[in-house]
Amino acid sequence: MFFENFSIGTDIEEIERFNNKTIEKDSRFLNYIFTNNEIAYCFSKKFPQRHLCARFCGKEAVVKALYGLGIEHITYKEIEILNKETGLPYVNIKKIPGIKIKISLSHSKKYATANVLAYKNN
Ligand SMILES: CC(C)(COP(=O)(O)OP(=O)(O)OC[C@H]1O[C@@H](n2cnc3c(N)ncnc32)[C@H](O)[C@@H]1OP(=O)(O)O)[C@@H](O)C(=O)NCCC(=O)NCCS
Repeated sequence: MFFENFSIGTDIEEIERFNNKTIEKDSRFLNYIFTNNEIAYCFSKKFPQRHLCARFCGKEAVVKALYGLGIEHITYKEIEILNKETGLPYVNIKKIPGIKIKISLSHSKKYATANVLAYKNN
């Protein structure tokens, strides 16, 4: 069936969880969840917590979408969310070949959210 190759995932989180995180003080926490490229992107912004939280939502949404395709055992860091020059976010998952993922992120002062579409190529 055509639709068995597709799955979606979503997440919403309170940005407050990521308030006052700094690279110096919270490197253990940050490095557990985020790649160096993600950390560099988020901390280049005026409100890093919004971008950290959006990426965290993105990772949770990817996990949900992958579960829907029967794929488990992936860690936060194996899901990398970066941005093209236009700002468009995209997902790198080196561990699983044959998976295509589309992602959309959004954040306000209080909340961040992510939506994901995943496609398995077989
Ligand atoms: C890209 C855009 C839609 C982002 O919307 P926003 O309300 O400012 O911000 P949101 O919190 O909803 O979304 C932010 C996220 O959008 C994503 N984003 C940024 N540029 C994007 C793009 N070109 N395409 C898709 N997503 C994009 C990013 O993931 C960003 O979060 P991140 O920096 O943490 O990765 C907005 O900045 C923009 O360019 N709007 C165009 C406005 C316009 O041209 N209007 C006239 C026609 S309606």
